[in-house]
Amino acid sequence: MENKVSKYETLCAQVESLIADERNEMSVLANVSAALHDMFPETFFWVGFYMVKENELQLGPFQGPVACMHIQKGKGVCGTAWAEERSIIVPDVEAFSGHIACSSFSRSEIVVPIFNRQKEFVGEIDIDSTSLNAFDETDRIYLEKIADIISRELYA
Ligand code: SME
Repeated sequence: MENKVSKYETLCAQVESLIADERNEMSVLANVSAALHDMFPETFFWVGFYMVKENELQLGPFQGPVACMHIQKGKGVCGTAWAEERSIIVPDVEAFSGHIACSSFSRSEIVVPIFNRQKEFVGEIDIDSTSLNAFDETDRIYLEKIADIISRELYA
């Protein structure tokens, strides 16, 4: 646990510096997904962004296997996090009704919203693990912090 907290503290500082002088959304999100994946290579099987475009979630930069490109509001874990505008931790994806299986290796998942400065939902961070029950409150708290850093710089 201690180790996880210190890794997330390092990540927050890394994301702050990655984003400091960069305003290109694609470049920032690509590097943040790489930084997240590099910090937790064992746990983070798939890590990436889904962003609201044309009234649906569209696949953004990610690390991991090929994934579903369009998700409608209310569908799957990602679409539910959008509809409910909150973070969702799924300890066992098979127990989540409507889960969209992009990879049969995914066993648990966390989705964290990104809000702009007007508190409108603009997208989300989605992370899948091949282990059951891989995510907890520490992940939620720090990923929300990272979403906030991204939002502060990109979605002002
Ligand atoms: N599992 C997600 C779909 C996205 S993939 O995990 C990358 C869901 O049910 O929303």
